[in-house]
Amino acid sequence: MTTQVGELLTTDSVLRIRGGVLLRGEVGVNGAKNSALAIMAGALLCSQECRIRNVPNLVDVHRMGQVLTALGVKVRYDRGALELDVTHLHRSLAPYEIVSQLRASFFVIGPLLARLGVARVPMPGGCAIGARPVELHVRGLQALGAVVQIEHGMVHAYARKLKGANIYLDYPSVGATETLMMAATLAEGETVIENAAQEPEVVDLANFCRSMGAKIRGAGTKTITVVGVPRLHTTEYSIIPDRIEAGTFMVAAAITRSDVLITPVIPEHLTPVIAKLNEIGFQATVEAPNGVRVQPGAGVYQGTDIETLPFPGFPTDMQAQFMALLTLSEGSSVVTETVFENRLRHVAELQRLGANIRVKGNHAVIQGVPFLSGAPVTATDLRASAALVLAGLAAQGETVISGLHHLDRGYERLEEKLRSLGADLVRVAA
Ligand code: EPZ
Repeated sequence: MTTQVGELLTTDSVLRIRGGVLLRGEVGVNGAKNSALAIMAGALLCSQECRIRNVPNLVDVHRMGQVLTALGVKVRYDRGALELDVTHLHRSLAPYEIVSQLRASFFVIGPLLARLGVARVPMPGGCAIGARPVELHVRGLQALGAVVQIEHGMVHAYARKLKGANIYLDYPSVGATETLMMAATLAEGETVIENAAQEPEVVDLANFCRSMGAKIRGAGTKTITVVGVPRLHTTEYSIIPDRIEAGTFMVAAAITRSDVLITPVIPEHLTPVIAKLNEIGFQATVEAPNGVRVQPGAGVYQGTDIETLPFPGFPTDMQAQFMALLTLSEGSSVVTETVFENRLRHVAELQRLGANIRVKGNHAVIQGVPFLSGAPVTATDLRASAALVLAGLAAQGETVISGLHHLDRGYERLEEKLRSLGADLVRVAA
């Protein structure tokens, strides 16, 4: 791996934000983190070289690069372009020290098994937002004819040749859909995945695999059909824009009552976010050719209820950011997190800023307050860190955020981009 992410790395710095500043202008969105990670795993299916463009410069992307390097892939990252030479893929063991830091690296299990007939990948273990089990991945691989054993925290999977099968997923898991779709591309015969995840990142991965010659139909619907092929060929592919980064900037505009244009976006990926902002009272509009503009509304911002669901429902990765926004909306709102069992940890930090929130199980009841006041707070996970930045932009006085290693996992140059819109924030040594 040749490049380094963010010199002033995370562990020894904090973000100081002076709130109450109006934002204005246009802000750019990078390629989608959750597409990049899956597509990097998907590149293992190819037996030649792949060139992937619009890859964000993030800690998680570099960690996935380290996993691929450990498997024998030559990885070169240069200003958003990733060159992956998979010709010499030969190791089937993914290193624990990286998989334990990056859950998405578990997704290499499908492509490794399909390419090498053996894969040894550590159980990713839980994280801040939930237990995150992988039984749907394992059961699906077994349905494709793999022998899978879990010993000493390691998933060992073997298959001389995977065979197509009909697989029904108990839950439309993004990761399990991606793992099984990738494994099926080189299997013998046809695979049908029912109750599949429909997220745009699943579609992007399918399009990437198809650009290498895979036969995949129905990505983006509940039923994905894959007809196996003997091998895949080289490709050059560009990743979709990050809908969650775009959504985060849309909430930044709303929470500061500002007028901001966010580009590039694919509007259909943002439908629930646009709908909820308009419901609260903002003006969120699609602006050709590939932008979305958020502007203040008539001035009364009404609370609303949000329930996170798999796509096309309201994205769980936008829940924390909207909770920050609803703390300053009139009346009460109920936010219900249905996708992850432990994704309300930002509530305590928002309360430190003066928010009025009560949690009951996976529901958070928010009573709008007239203002937030700056305070020292700590990020607990990636999207929680984004929510604290947004609350800090609106809060009176100074907010100081620590735990930035979470933020750097999923946002490239966030504070620089916000500063370009006029925000008053700086990263300093702790
Ligand atoms: C992907 O995680 C994203 N990560 C997550 O984004 C996102 O929150 C999530 O999808 C849902 O949209 C990447 O793409 C790298 P799931 P993934 O499998 O694939 C349960 C962010 O902030 N489940 O759809 O791990 C699981 O525990 C991150 O960018 C099982 O029970 O999500 C969870 O409760 C966070 N068994 C639910 O399904 C399984 O075998 C959804 O998980 C698999 C999942």
